[in-house]
Amino acid sequence: MEKIGILVVSYGAREVAMVDALLQSRNYQVELYIADKQRNPFNAEKAAKHVVIPNLDVEEICKFAESSKDKIDFVLVGSEKPIIEGIRDLVEKRTGLPVICPKQEYAIEASKIEQRLLFQEIAPEANPRFKIFNPADYKGEAEVKSAVYRWLDELDNHAVVKPDKPALGKGVGVWGDHFATREQLFEHFMSNFQYSSVIIEEKIDGEESSFMAFCDGKHFIPLPDTRDYKRAFDDDKGPNTGGMGSYKDVGDTLPFLTAAEREQELALANKIFEGWKAKIKDDSALRGVPLYLAFMHTGHGIKVLENNSRPGDPEIINLLPLIKDDFVDVCFKMIEGNLTSVALEKAATVLTYKVPSDYGGYADVFPNQIDKSVVSTQVDLSKAYALTKKYGNRICIYPGSMETRNGKNYALKSRTVGVLGIGKSIEEAREISLEGAKAIRGGALWNRTDVASKQHIAKSVSHMDNLRRKA
Ligand code: AMP
Ligand code: GLY
Repeated sequence: MEKIGILVVSYGAREVAMVDALLQSRNYQVELYIADKQRNPFNAEKAAKHVVIPNLDVEEICKFAESSKDKIDFVLVGSEKPIIEGIRDLVEKRTGLPVICPKQEYAIEASKIEQRLLFQEIAPEANPRFKIFNPADYKGEAEVKSAVYRWLDELDNHAVVKPDKPALGKGVGVWGDHFATREQLFEHFMSNFQYSSVIIEEKIDGEESSFMAFCDGKHFIPLPDTRDYKRAFDDDKGPNTGGMGSYKDVGDTLPFLTAAEREQELALANKIFEGWKAKIKDDSALRGVPLYLAFMHTGHGIKVLENNSRPGDPEIINLLPLIKDDFVDVCFKMIEGNLTSVALEKAATVLTYKVPSDYGGYADVFPNQIDKSVVSTQVDLSKAYALTKKYGNRICIYPGSMETRNGKNYALKSRTVGVLGIGKSIEEAREISLEGAKAIRGGALWNRTDVASKQHIAKSVSHMDNLRRKA
């Protein structure tokens, strides 16, 4: 069997799922080189060479690639920070190794303004009404305040405030959720505007889906829809987070969407891809997952809330274990420019994240949900792993923001561990995921309990029915 070396740049559980998919290879003997945000127990065990680069600094990652250059065949990157900071350009230039992610110039996740302007050119129907506020255009706070209030008049206050630069899910403020008055909205606006440009856009009523596609630069291979749970607490309450869990239905779309709505998604995503590609000379630039679109379904069309330039965390975890092709071959095809299809098993998947009690500031808000008697950050995954005896490969336990020290695991600050259940139905997948989450011991960890619940899905279904009726 051919031996190949792969460097994975890892942030958390999303990349652990990628590492697991690579290790399932039937066609290659995979040797892993992992540049990791922390000493992740899964990665540390599986890697031939493992380094910790806490800020995922691109220069450090590049040095690591150079040090094992002769043994590495390609580099796979999952996380936004190094992609935005130009990891692909740097590593390809200095080592000649192919890197799977978009080139820096096309990593439009770096700027919400750039995204809106690109869509405005290619598919203006996908944009909500928006206005860009640039600090250089205003003389003082009074002037920008009156411009903001005039725009709020036009939007009838139904507005969303978005800083141009990504803020780890923390910068976006939504009318009715994060502020109830113009003063509060303006305060949030100013806290971002003092640093750089801010968009204020129309608040769209609808149901969200996450849409991702693998891409070799020339071909666009859409993946099934997933649904992300962004809010910190059950019933979609609390602050936005990186994502507390996600689900995928058996087929390609979600229970609250029609086949026609899935077709609309495919048509819109394809239009954006083709329009974008036509503007770019380098036909390898859009490699990896350059379009991970957050769609909002309104019952009378689709709007794009934002685009990311990498796979979703956790949404890609819902998909990776279902890939029937050899994932290493999928990667090679992305590099060679001949990725024309990816086969996936038809199954439902549910991912539940366990997170520290103070992730996103929870502890202050819902103190009763958290067992404060558990102060240790030590986490025991053995009972969760033991469930693989019962469920085989229908359960995946992927450590994220977790560090191994002297054979013991400790929770760090971000999402600690993701548990994926795979089943013939969403209910079956959800039960496995929740059983796995429950089996994780120690640490003051908690999780949302309503990811893919019957009630949550029924609410989405009836919301969409109402929206379609009104359309
Ligand atoms: P983003 O970081 O742009 O994905 O925004 C985070 C969350 O804010 C989204 O998942 C939505 O729930 C919400 N959001 C963003 N933009 C809009 C919008 N135009 N209308 C309604 N909700 C939005
Ligand atoms: N789940 C949201 C994200 O990956 O940005």
